[in-house]
Amino acid sequence: MNTLLRIDSSLRIEGSYSRTLGNFFVQQWKAKNPAGIILERDVNRQHIPHITQQTVTAFFSDTPDAESLTLSDELINELYQTDELLITCPMYNYGIPSSLKAYFDLVIRTKKTFAGNKVPKGLLENKRAYIISSMGGIAAEELNPLENHLTQLLNHMGIRDILYFPLDGTVDGVRTAQKITVQQSEILKQLDS
Ligand SMILES: Cc1cc2nc3c(=O)[nH]c(=O)nc-3n(C[C@H](O)[C@H](O)[C@H](O)COP(=O)(O)O)c2cc1C
Repeated sequence: MNTLLRIDSSLRIEGSYSRTLGNFFVQQWKAKNPAGIILERDVNRQHIPHITQQTVTAFFSDTPDAESLTLSDELINELYQTDELLITCPMYNYGIPSSLKAYFDLVIRTKKTFAGNKVPKGLLENKRAYIISSMGGIAAEELNPLENHLTQLLNHMGIRDILYFPLDGTVDGVRTAQKITVQQSEILKQLDS
């Protein structure tokens, strides 16, 4: 039985292209995994606090203040329960939403999701991630900046099996509608393989 963790981050609840394609993905995933479990995190709707000095001190302490680690522990446990991860991510000011960055700051944690300093080794094994990204402009590189950054963050925790479904140029609604159709077929192809 597979478990999928869906993480949404667009500030738009209605009219978000990344959420819309995410909904399609989940619908298809459910059809392929009728007994599968879906966990949901919405880092926009559910406030994720920034890490503080207190949090990081607790990360490195042998006798940590438990309260500082409650949310980090909860989010990391969720990742360990998960076989597959779907991240829907818009571009804001040339990067991923700060809420999603705050999420990663809490889950990328020494001895929990990676070990070692000089050559860090990711501890989350045998997990696949799907990234649905959206941006108003046209992506110039093969992997757009959101995909690049998310790939580094996931790789750091050991997640290297990553599939990408980008929606760029969303400022043009007609083009985006066509792109959504293309990415829907890509999703079907990947979930069928
Ligand atoms: C605060 C803000 C900043 C944005 N910054 C960028 C940007 O730097 N580059 C870009 O191409 N689009 C930018 N956009 C456009 C969004 O990436 C685009 O509307 C995207 O479709 C949003 O994702 P969503 O449709 O899932 O909500 C920005 C939008 C907002 C609201």
